[in-house]
Amino acid sequence: MRLNLRALAAKAVFAVLEQGQSLSLALPDVQQNVRSPKDKALIAELCYGVMRVLPQLDQCVSACLSKPFKGKQRIIQQLLLVGCYQLYFTRIPPHAAISETAEACRQLGQENLVKVVNGVLRNIQRQQQPLSGESPTLKYNFPAWILKKLQAAYPNQWQQVVENSQQRPPMWLRNNCQQQRRSDYLLQLSEQSITASPGSSDDAMLLEHPCDVTQLPGFESGTVSVQDGAAQWAAQLLDAQAGELVLDACAAPGGKTCHILERTPGINLVAVDNDSKRLMRVNQNLARLQLDARVIQGNAAAIHEWWHGDKFDRILLDAPCSATGVIRRHPDIKWLRKEADIAELTKVQAQILDHCWQWLKPGGVLLYATCSILPEENHQQIAAFLARTADAELQVITASQENCSSDWQILPGQDNMDGFYYAKLLKRSTA
Ligand SMILES: C[S@@+](CC[C@H](N)C(=O)[O-])C[C@H]1O[C@@H](n2cnc3c(N)ncnc32)[C@H](O)[C@@H]1O
Repeated sequence: MRLNLRALAAKAVFAVLEQGQSLSLALPDVQQNVRSPKDKALIAELCYGVMRVLPQLDQCVSACLSKPFKGKQRIIQQLLLVGCYQLYFTRIPPHAAISETAEACRQLGQENLVKVVNGVLRNIQRQQQPLSGESPTLKYNFPAWILKKLQAAYPNQWQQVVENSQQRPPMWLRNNCQQQRRSDYLLQLSEQSITASPGSSDDAMLLEHPCDVTQLPGFESGTVSVQDGAAQWAAQLLDAQAGELVLDACAAPGGKTCHILERTPGINLVAVDNDSKRLMRVNQNLARLQLDARVIQGNAAAIHEWWHGDKFDRILLDAPCSATGVIRRHPDIKWLRKEADIAELTKVQAQILDHCWQWLKPGGVLLYATCSILPEENHQQIAAFLARTADAELQVITASQENCSSDWQILPGQDNMDGFYYAKLLKRSTA
């Protein structure tokens, strides 16, 4: 049976909340069942919306049920979240939201619960209770453990960080400087009535309103790529030079790999990732942009297993991390990440960092990057590395006249960018 949009959204929400899948994998899986871009967009809006305000929706729905659904009926719990989201956060007429959601219940094989779904949603619509609560989780729609960490790390800014992480993210483009100047591309955009402004790094452009990539002049032929303004600092700070041997140690899906190559042709770039599926995306991105790198599946903490060449002049280590800096783009991170993951991640980051350091030439530069805003993965990680590594030295990062610091923590929303962290490490020559 063909499922309606609410049923498809409920399936994706189920995959995230009950099966631990990321929304960026679960969503395309259900979206492939519909053709029209408008329908795909509505499914996305429902799923992302539910992830953004999950605790409040959950409380509202639970208050209307004597007990939560279990077993095969569990998906109806997620369907009710989707229903509740429509009533509070969309302009869909309530009668349409309710009848479509009830129909989804039938399509999901739970005919006997159609009346319950109808009743619960009508109840919610009638009462229209304000969606908030006393507990910090309900107030901010964030897990308590992340709030605690943010409060400790940013005593004066944590509320702003949380608020910015709840916003819909802007769309950033990266100009392909091999194809045209950024100023020329901005002109091309304005000719198409697409308003954009230059970002702080060389190739970044911020769109006033997100749009479909098919509307972007020359996208298919590689004139631009979609990449957040914060992530675009990586290639610029790495500053690789023609003729150098460069390692992109955690490369997939390849956004930064491509940017490094676009900025400086003639780099000998090795792009490695341990995830073969994600590596396919690196190859696709390289192909679209007609760039060339040696793409290898391998462990960045065991380079000897897959590399028998020289040590590297420069290494970009865009480490696996909590992704707490990109919650505005991936709100499901709030519910998929667990507090215990952080200690595990910091251990892995330290292992990869120590190992990559062995493969850096004296005089070489390693750029450590994460899309995290937690100090244990960032500033504290680098401080501990410097304390145990005699030949490592932190280089000052100059990103603008105002920003000139030894390491750089970008917070979500700062200059419209994602949360990101950079530390540039120089390996002293022993001579
Ligand atoms: C933050 S993402 C990298 C994003 C990428 N640099 C870009 O700009 O598109 C981190 C990547 O590290 C990879 N990874 C995790 N552990 C790894 C390891 N031990 N060796 C190599 N890659 C690893 C993950 O598969 C993931 O693709």
